[in-house]
Amino acid sequence: MVTTDVVVVGSGPAGASMALALARLGVDHIVVTRYETLAAEPRAHITNQRTMEVLRDLGVSGQVEALATPQDLIGTTTFCTSLAGEELGRVRSWGTHPRSRAAHALASPAGICDMPQSLMEPILVQGAQAAGSRIRFSTEYLSHAVDDDGVTVRVRDRLRDDEYEIRAKYLYGADGGRSRVAEDAGLPMRGEMGVAGSLNIVFRADLSPWVAHRPSVLYWVLQPGSDIGGIGMGVVRMVRPWNEWLTIWGYDVADGPPDLSDEFTTGLVRQLVGVDDLEVEIVGSSAWTVNHMAAEHYGSGRVFCGGDAVHRHPPSNGLGSNTSIQDSFNLAWKLAYVLRGWADPSLLDTYSAERAPIGRQVVDRANQSIGETGRIFDALGVSGTDDPEVMRENMARRREPGAEKQRRALREAITFKAYEFDAHGVELNQRYVSSAVVADELAPDPLATVEDPELTYVATTTPGARVPHVWLAGRDGDVSTIDLAGRGRFTLFTGPGGTWPESEQMRVIVVGPGEEIEDPYGDWARLLEAEGIGDAGGVLVRPDHHVAARFATLPNDPAEVLAGVLRTGEQ
Ligand code: FDA
Repeated sequence: MVTTDVVVVGSGPAGASMALALARLGVDHIVVTRYETLAAEPRAHITNQRTMEVLRDLGVSGQVEALATPQDLIGTTTFCTSLAGEELGRVRSWGTHPRSRAAHALASPAGICDMPQSLMEPILVQGAQAAGSRIRFSTEYLSHAVDDDGVTVRVRDRLRDDEYEIRAKYLYGADGGRSRVAEDAGLPMRGEMGVAGSLNIVFRADLSPWVAHRPSVLYWVLQPGSDIGGIGMGVVRMVRPWNEWLTIWGYDVADGPPDLSDEFTTGLVRQLVGVDDLEVEIVGSSAWTVNHMAAEHYGSGRVFCGGDAVHRHPPSNGLGSNTSIQDSFNLAWKLAYVLRGWADPSLLDTYSAERAPIGRQVVDRANQSIGETGRIFDALGVSGTDDPEVMRENMARRREPGAEKQRRALREAITFKAYEFDAHGVELNQRYVSSAVVADELAPDPLATVEDPELTYVATTTPGARVPHVWLAGRDGDVSTIDLAGRGRFTLFTGPGGTWPESEQMRVIVVGPGEEIEDPYGDWARLLEAEGIGDAGGVLVRPDHHVAARFATLPNDPAEVLAGVLRTGEQ
């Protein structure tokens, strides 16, 4: 029988990033993935700062940056009646508002970018293969059986049309929104599938005359009289500036998707662009549904799931593949530590405790964002009537001198969409609460008092939060705390007053004058001081960059604290 330590099902963002992380951690694993090729459709695209930090850790961020569309070209989210038609307003997005730019620059060494899934997956998979992953395409997961010593996974080789079994210690189901692994593992799902229907149409056309002056990844199109089901409006989404695009359009789930003929798709593209004779090359099309569902827990014992298998939601806020990659990054080091005998298997239970609340938050946020688009319809006067003529009249009224109230309402409704397009807090304020985090009362979590935790990121060493990014000075130049941490090890940041022996699991970084890492601007010291951590204290950061524990002064037996985190529940 084929044997390995971990079987990963799926090669989408969740499965491919798990493979890459496991390979870099030296964990033997096999990926089985149903199709012959990776995703051809661009699908997910916004790649946020947190994911870019993970990709830095995994050694592929440079390749992603080389292919991605940079932040400067993605942020003028525009609402219009068609690309060539009337503009209704814009909202600066994805950190491109000058205030958000500063917040982004302060928050992370990495920038947000736009990376179509069709380009992201090959980078993750090739990186994984180069680091030692065994990836079996055209291989379908069929079933699994767990016993005391491991899990037996039954798969079908679709090329040879035969079945075989793989014996592993753990199984990770990253098999997407129709996950069979999650179903077989009996993961409790809460929510609703198929809330609304959407169509994706990928096409090539030079749209630069209508977009280059307001560069963006998203152009939202509202056309009175058109069926605007699904995510609420038509979307023309940039895939590559400015000649490759993806149109999203709603359909009624009760009727099922329409026939996606070339005539239908070309007509729809021309209608949204607003140019009747636009030269269009249709590349592909597909139908999908808006879902509102998340698993209550992500597995236990020997079987875990991540990505869309456990959180299913619309693309609003661009959280799909980001959350999937971050799930895998949370679990990968735990699997490695348990397999090496460095941690108790109960450490694996913290995966679900930490990630399931985040999945629920993401699913709710993405669906809420769809609902909030309704404010724009209300302001324009297109809700509450089915009559396109009335809609057009109401929309036109906002140009009249006396329509100040309507103009203000529209302005406010569009600005409000920052909760979808510039929600920095949603992206970075994640907190882990589990037995792999040592809660303390050193300083209150500043998140509790921030005015808007969804929009605003707060830097803090609160246990469970991601360690704040601060530029420190190394011998070869400036280096971020985020990049000093991670890479498969715990990191203890301490000051000149602290001493703590290094171990295989933990690197000790003394930050101070004359040390390898210095804090010339004093930013790190200021941050720690504000949270009650002295030079002789420290911040213990997990391999996934989240704070495990912090100390005002180092405890008498510091190694025991780390051992407690790895034993879990005993610290
Ligand atoms: P994903 O679905 O990407 O991958 C699942 C993997 O499992 C695939 O490799 C598949 O072959 C494999 N698999 C499935 N069953 C298997 C089996 N039985 N055996 C072996 N392998 C199996 N998100 C976003 O943020 N913006 C967007 O615009 C869009 N648009 C979009 C369009 C469409 C059509 C879809 C389907 C999805 C989106 N998404 C999206 C969502 C986004 O693509 C999604 O969140 C991520 O792809 C999730 O990554 P996963 O790896 O979890 O699943």
